[in-house]
Amino acid sequence: MNKLKTVKIAGREIFPIGLGTWNMGDDKEKYTQELNALRAGLEAGVQVIDTAEMYGNGNSERLVGNAIELFEREKLLLVSKVLPENASKKQLSISLDNSLKRLKTDYLDLYLLHWKGSIPIEETIEAMEKAKMQGTIKSWGVSNFDVNQMKKLLNLPNGHNCVTNQVRYNLGDRGIDFDLVPMMKENRKPLMAYAPVARGDKLGSALTKQQVLLDISKKYNVDVFQILLAWSIRNGETIPIPQSSNPKHVIKNVKAVNIELTEEDLKKIDSVYPEPSVSEPLALW
Ligand SMILES: NC(=O)c1ccc[n+]([C@@H]2O[C@H](COP(=O)([O-])OP(=O)(O)OC[C@H]3O[C@@H](n4cnc5c(N)ncnc54)[C@H](OP(=O)(O)O)[C@@H]3O)[C@@H](O)[C@H]2O)c1
Repeated sequence: MNKLKTVKIAGREIFPIGLGTWNMGDDKEKYTQELNALRAGLEAGVQVIDTAEMYGNGNSERLVGNAIELFEREKLLLVSKVLPENASKKQLSISLDNSLKRLKTDYLDLYLLHWKGSIPIEETIEAMEKAKMQGTIKSWGVSNFDVNQMKKLLNLPNGHNCVTNQVRYNLGDRGIDFDLVPMMKENRKPLMAYAPVARGDKLGSALTKQQVLLDISKKYNVDVFQILLAWSIRNGETIPIPQSSNPKHVIKNVKAVNIELTEEDLKKIDSVYPEPSVSEPLALW
């Protein structure tokens, strides 16, 4: 692990790049490769591994459960998410138990509300706090909360116990740099970035064709995806969770931790992908 680059979350200093697992564990033919991809990341020092009860109706959690078996549980920061309709006092513990069984563990390091639904957030906080007291989760957070939802949450009783907000964030989707990112920083809560490599550049921004990014990647002898990850960890306040079923891509993603983008690189990047000057709606999914 790079000794300098860590992110603080839930009271722990951890490796800043994690592993996403959406759409993994569904296809029998790809299963071994997917397992190897996750294990390659964990062997290379990754600690955060992100899944959800929603992903493949539990298939992703089952795959993660198999992947982590060989690793020291205490070193990991295992994250799963509860669906909004299950985030009630009655249902949350049932969802959590099912996730723990699929993951073959007796606690989650971090449990996230996948997005805000119709159950009052006060009730979800209560259910999360109860799970924390019972030791089935170490900490909790939210996902897909915009700046106003986040402000409201932090002002509720125990709302400040929320440790992160997992949202879409990459160079082609940096609208939240206007308000949510500074607000999270002010509250000393790291952001968890999903789609950090813009879904393999399939989100429409053509990042891998952008000359500035090609020039910077050439300078460091890496590819554009690695530059995207280096950009997302530039301030030590964000944990990107790139998903890959390809062990070689996973290793490249992990190695992005060693890229030190200079002020000049960042200025060049900003000239093509400027910081937003007005509030923008959250990019979703
Ligand atoms: N909270 C939420 O609502 C929410 C929503 C979406 C996602 N997430 C979480 O965030 C994770 C990441 O987001 P995501 O999966 O949507 O998008 P992503 O990580 O930006 O992109 C995944 C895609 O990028 C490709 N890729 C990854 N590394 C690569 C590399 N080094 N070179 C070339 N291609 C590469 C992968 O293909 P290969 O397999 O070929 O490498 C895969 O198709 C998810 O898996 C999930 O855990 C959360």
